[in-house]
Amino acid sequence: MIAGRANPLVLVTGGAGFIGSHLCEALLARGARVRVLDDFSTGRWENLARIRSDIEVIEGGLESAPAVERAVAGVDSIAHLAARSSVVESIGARELYWRVNVEGTATLFAAAAAARARRVVFAASSSAYGDRAPTHDQAHDQAHDVPQDESMQPHPASPYAASKVEGERLVRALAQTGGVDAIALRFFNVYGLRQDPNSAYAAVIPRFMTRVAEGKPVTVFSDGLQTRDFVHVSDTARAVIAALDAKHVLGGVIANVGTGQATTVTELVRLVGAVLGKPAMVEYQPAREGEVRHSVAATERAAQLIGFRANISLESGLRTMV
Ligand SMILES: NC(=O)c1ccc[n+]([C@@H]2O[C@H](COP(=O)([O-])OP(=O)(O)OC[C@H]3O[C@@H](n4cnc5c(N)ncnc54)[C@H](O)[C@@H]3O)[C@@H](O)[C@H]2O)c1
Repeated sequence: MIAGRANPLVLVTGGAGFIGSHLCEALLARGARVRVLDDFSTGRWENLARIRSDIEVIEGGLESAPAVERAVAGVDSIAHLAARSSVVESIGARELYWRVNVEGTATLFAAAAAARARRVVFAASSSAYGDRAPTHDQAHDQAHDVPQDESMQPHPASPYAASKVEGERLVRALAQTGGVDAIALRFFNVYGLRQDPNSAYAAVIPRFMTRVAEGKPVTVFSDGLQTRDFVHVSDTARAVIAALDAKHVLGGVIANVGTGQATTVTELVRLVGAVLGKPAMVEYQPAREGEVRHSVAATERAAQLIGFRANISLESGLRTMV
């Protein structure tokens, strides 16, 4: 039970989104009361359909101080997931990303401090690591700076990544001077049911699953040998709850949420084909701006700090989406 209290009230910002809606379900299953703050810009009411009558929903934006103050009133703790969350979109929308992800986060944290919330868990991103080797040549490709551990300097390579790194700084300031304990969890590539395959900025797994199921080729940017750490949404929700639950002070630190397993995009294509029982065809395109070459989490800090280890393999996770 969160913080050892009976039925604590947890605010999930971005609760109508992909990860947020899974988190709301997992929190309810553990006996928490759940309030959602979401402006439904990318979130959807359908994501909350199964739990609609069990939660309170405030439809409003992080930019609105009155909506945020209403959302934090009386909460025990906050999972702050609301954000604009596309690397590609952020390149043409810097101001929007700064306004929502940085200024919106500052507004929320000020309200959390005023309301004396116990703890905030912030959805940070593995994109903070960026690409430490700017070239993509083969020599660098062998083993540059992976796995990524939290002591490395951030190298954000997009406005989205930069906004998330700034959010981490706000987390630290909140914990050090705001009277609210906090942690920033750097999610790696989260996947699972309810990820939108149709948006222009769709994540790779739902996009590949849909294309292969339809017998259409998937688009692979670059040579397919770039790696990602794919972490299932149920594991991710479990990590957030472990952080909300931790008995000791977290102090505004950063911890990765990943599996520690690197998967090439080529291997992902093969697994998607195997899980769907269909051949997967590939079309190659040049690498996209702002995207990193290699990404895999060091997992020790999350294990030590909040007792979290991912336990869903990519193959079994993909099977939950069929
Ligand atoms: N999906 C991933 O692989 C991944 C990886 C790293 C970090 N994250 C972070 O995790 C969080 C959740 O991501 P997701 O994949 O569920 O994305 P999502 O887009 O499905 O969820 C984001 C939610 O925030 C809401 N939102 C956006 N702007 C808002 C605003 N101004 N006010 C209130 N609500 C707003 C959206 O409507 C949506 O419901 C985000 O902070 C994202 O940056 C996700």
